[in-house]
Amino acid sequence: MPTLTINGKEVPFSPGQSILQAALDAEFEIPHYCYHPGLSVVASCRICLAEVWQKNPKTGELQQIPKLVPTCQQPAADGMVVHTDSPKSIANQKAVMEYLLINHPVDCPVCDKAGECHLQDYSYQYGRGQSRFCESKIKQPKKDVGPNILLYSDRCIMCTRCVRFTREVTGTAELIVEGRGAMEQIDVFPGRALDNELSGNVADICPVGALLDKDFLFQQRVWFLEKTPSIDGITASGDNIWIEHHDDRVYRLKPRTNLEVNKWWITDEVRYGWKFVHREDRLTLPRIKGMDPFEPEAAAGAYAAAYRAANALLGNAVKSKSEGTTGLLVSPMLSCEDAYLLATWVRSIDSKAVLAVGPIPRQGEDKTFPGGYTVRAEKAPNARGVRMVLESFGGGVLDAAGFTAKAASLSAVVVTGNYPSDWVTPELAKALASTGLILIDTLPGPLVEQAEVVLPGATWIEKSGSFMNAEGRLQSFRRAFHPVDFAKSEAQLALDLAGDREGRAPGVFDDAAVRTEMSRRAGLEAMAKAIFHPEAEAVVEPDMVFVEL
Ligand code: SF4
Ligand code: FES
Repeated sequence: MPTLTINGKEVPFSPGQSILQAALDAEFEIPHYCYHPGLSVVASCRICLAEVWQKNPKTGELQQIPKLVPTCQQPAADGMVVHTDSPKSIANQKAVMEYLLINHPVDCPVCDKAGECHLQDYSYQYGRGQSRFCESKIKQPKKDVGPNILLYSDRCIMCTRCVRFTREVTGTAELIVEGRGAMEQIDVFPGRALDNELSGNVADICPVGALLDKDFLFQQRVWFLEKTPSIDGITASGDNIWIEHHDDRVYRLKPRTNLEVNKWWITDEVRYGWKFVHREDRLTLPRIKGMDPFEPEAAAGAYAAAYRAANALLGNAVKSKSEGTTGLLVSPMLSCEDAYLLATWVRSIDSKAVLAVGPIPRQGEDKTFPGGYTVRAEKAPNARGVRMVLESFGGGVLDAAGFTAKAASLSAVVVTGNYPSDWVTPELAKALASTGLILIDTLPGPLVEQAEVVLPGATWIEKSGSFMNAEGRLQSFRRAFHPVDFAKSEAQLALDLAGDREGRAPGVFDDAAVRTEMSRRAGLEAMAKAIFHPEAEAVVEPDMVFVEL
């Protein structure tokens, strides 16, 4: 593999890579603003400039390129020597920082980007530490550029990442550079708004606090946020995400880079689709038909009574009729592990129980943007995974329509929901009207009143597990925090129900152990071999000395 030397350190690179790409791959930092791996290279911010020496093709001798070179644009070459820490390079970094801060309001204490702002970080690492500018700063307006995004123009450093994003990734080109020189500004075309399915990504790629997410505006300081790696839990995209949370509350979802799935992006639908997790009316305690609602203080007793009632309902149905008289409808919003443990429990009572995948919501058609990102029409994260798991139990798997047609002839069924909004069709509610119903769901709906037993489930953010996306890629995700109040993950409910039936203490759900168990079953080998696990985030140690005042 060819190599170049950066500040005395040998760095390997692949042919075609720029110096900056090679450096970043080797976790070697060169400051950069306008460069983004998902966008074209414009080399306009000039902070990545460095002194470069390369071999003279005729003599083979190392020769210095006379001017400083933009490392984001200059292809790496074998034997090249780069100095980003030479006096000339350092003088350039300081000059660029000073220039960028001339008209910057330096309002970090009230800026949402503080703590993750490249201008702040580079100012500390590469700036002068003191401003020599004593004239008045140019003030620029704040603009409402779209339903999700605000633009604080005077914080903008004109890197044009946002403009290139709307041209190259979404192809919608709502953003433009308007004016010239010191009066240059980012803006939307007159009469247009930054309103496309991927608009929220501009706030992520803006290296400073110029483009801000309205939904996160003044909500939380970023250094309080914990990040948990997860997967899109509301569509079939399988997009890799970070759940950013604090004190058991989600503050924002951001894309987690995965070049094989979502690259650097997520849709606004996914970014803002978590609100149902914190709905006031979440189901949080079990309910049993005909009994007074349980009080929170009696949660343990409520669960014990609900488990007994649910097991009795299924057991009596099999006793009084025959096997095959019960059913399980597993929502495509549930994980593979949830589906496996629920089916294991139901089939342990009725070995011929009917198994089915719940309704799979769709909206329009898949839409692929010019940058290659596809918005999925399927609004459920795991229809394929649930079907794969249920099929491994044998006896066939019905779809929601097949289950609805069969439901009225069954004596008792377990139905799971966990959708972000209303999901019960009038046909399903009617078909279940005279069937003994055990409902596991997160939000209230028409089946709650109808059910003999209701158990409160957990959203994907509150549990760990795995989903299979529209392309058949199996990916695991981690729990960000415990389920709200007394709710439990469907997998834990299934373990508890099985424990109650067998008169033993239930196990504590461990997704990795369940996957190992699943992988021994014919048809589920992929749970061990073909599953992608998220990498933990590297811990960033602050390099600043904190001083007690
Ligand atoms: S708004 Fe942000 S992303 Fe757009 S040009 Fe300015 S600094 Fe760059
Ligand atoms: S990152 Fe190279 S010029 Fe901006």
